[in-house]
Amino acid sequence: MLEVASSAELRAATDAARQRGAGVGFVPTMGALHAGHRALLARARAGNDVVVASVFVNPLQFGPAEDLASYPRDREADLAVLEAGGVDLAFLPAEGEMWPSPPEVRLRVGGGLAERLEGLARPGHLDGVATVVAKLLHLVGPSRAYFGQKDAQQLAVVRRMVDDLAFPNQIVACPTVREPDGLAVSSRNAYLSASERERATVLYRALQAGRAAFYAGRRDPAAVEAAARDLLEDQPGVDPDYVALVEEATFEPAKQAEPGQVLATAARVGRTRLIDNVIL
Ligand code: PAJ
Repeated sequence: MLEVASSAELRAATDAARQRGAGVGFVPTMGALHAGHRALLARARAGNDVVVASVFVNPLQFGPAEDLASYPRDREADLAVLEAGGVDLAFLPAEGEMWPSPPEVRLRVGGGLAERLEGLARPGHLDGVATVVAKLLHLVGPSRAYFGQKDAQQLAVVRRMVDDLAFPNQIVACPTVREPDGLAVSSRNAYLSASERERATVLYRALQAGRAAFYAGRRDPAAVEAAARDLLEDQPGVDPDYVALVEEATFEPAKQAEPGQVLATAARVGRTRLIDNVIL
């Protein structure tokens, strides 16, 4: 595995790969790598000649009151995961390499994607994601880039960006990897105390209850959402932010429950905000 920290070295390596005719797969991450990231790496490894992964905790996507400073960082452990995942090229830029000064030209996400759920709860977050992903896609120039369904709204934003702005990259979605008890694997799970970790399992149970209501024939989005919200509200120490049934591509509210829609939730467990979703 070649490890690079500068855009120039990254470009040189990916240019050389493309000139050889190699298909390049790319997995962008913020590090603290876990089983969810490993699944993306495995998909990329299986589908490409050359696999590039990045580790960069992108300040543009954190709000002023969010966990940028405390976000878990473990460079050596991350490198070991990338190496074991068969990554050919690891890009670990310093903040000053990615953003020598705060960018004056940024992408802005609009419509339902910006105004609802994560867009509403975390102003500027999705703009920061779109801006860094755009830059990373330009730097790496992959044939395919891999994103987790876990962050369904982020995935929808990236897909929309690629469509709206004619990026030549194919976006590949990977299913959410879960702990044996159903909790979606996340770097932020490390913030949970033992009792919070236990309570956090209610997110997935609630989403499953919502999905079960749909399978049982409920077609009113409010009924599907209520089936999930009831469980969340019954769990002490868990403070639901939203439960919403939305269209997968636009995050517009579902008018009638249909297969393929996303049932998404965010909840605070103690001080930690967790998100999860299932597809009907
Ligand atoms: P990060 O949270 O590190 O996640 C990197 C990728 O791993 C994202 O595509 C995310 O959806 C995926 N992922 C995280 N947990 C997962 C799980 N349990 N199962 C499947 N995939 C999972 O998302 C980001 O970083 C950043 O916003 C980034 C795209 C790198 C831009 O800065």
